[in-house]
Amino acid sequence: MRTDRTFTMLKPDSVEKGNIGPILEKISSAGFKIVAMKLTQMTTADAEAFYAIHSERPFFGELVSYMTRGPIVAAVLEKDNAVSDFRTLIGATNPAEAADGTIRKMFADSISENAVHGSDSDQNAEIESQFHFAGREIF
Ligand code: RTP
Ligand code: MG
Repeated sequence: MRTDRTFTMLKPDSVEKGNIGPILEKISSAGFKIVAMKLTQMTTADAEAFYAIHSERPFFGELVSYMTRGPIVAAVLEKDNAVSDFRTLIGATNPAEAADGTIRKMFADSISENAVHGSDSDQNAEIESQFHFAGREIF
């Protein structure tokens, strides 16, 4: 299992607010190399599968409708210690608790609409990358 890649989505609120460029600039400045990227929209079935681990949580319906309401930017990022370093860069799930300078602190509105996704393990980074990209689309 490689440890130098993670998977991210710039969520629908980021695309709606015109924040694709500023967020990609933060990611790039932090030393992450983009090795796959596309603008895409998840179906309800896609979002239910992607977030299946949260299916029993009270916010699941809200999460699925949020994540499917418009396009997202999906990307695979490369850097040493990618999963952990990217979680640090994005900040806490709730932007009110996120550290200054983190992407969620700067660009997220609420715990529900929090601008970006970051994989939480090397194994999930691999699973989530393959969910969104064919092998030939990852460089
Ligand atoms: P993500 O998976 O998107 O990177 O976020 P995360 O690890 O920081 O947070 P997680 O616990 O995996 O939750 C997934 C997403 O569900 C929404 N959420 N809403 N209303 C709520 O209490 C609540 N809690 C979580 C957020 O969009 C969160 O990123
Ligand atoms: Mg998560």
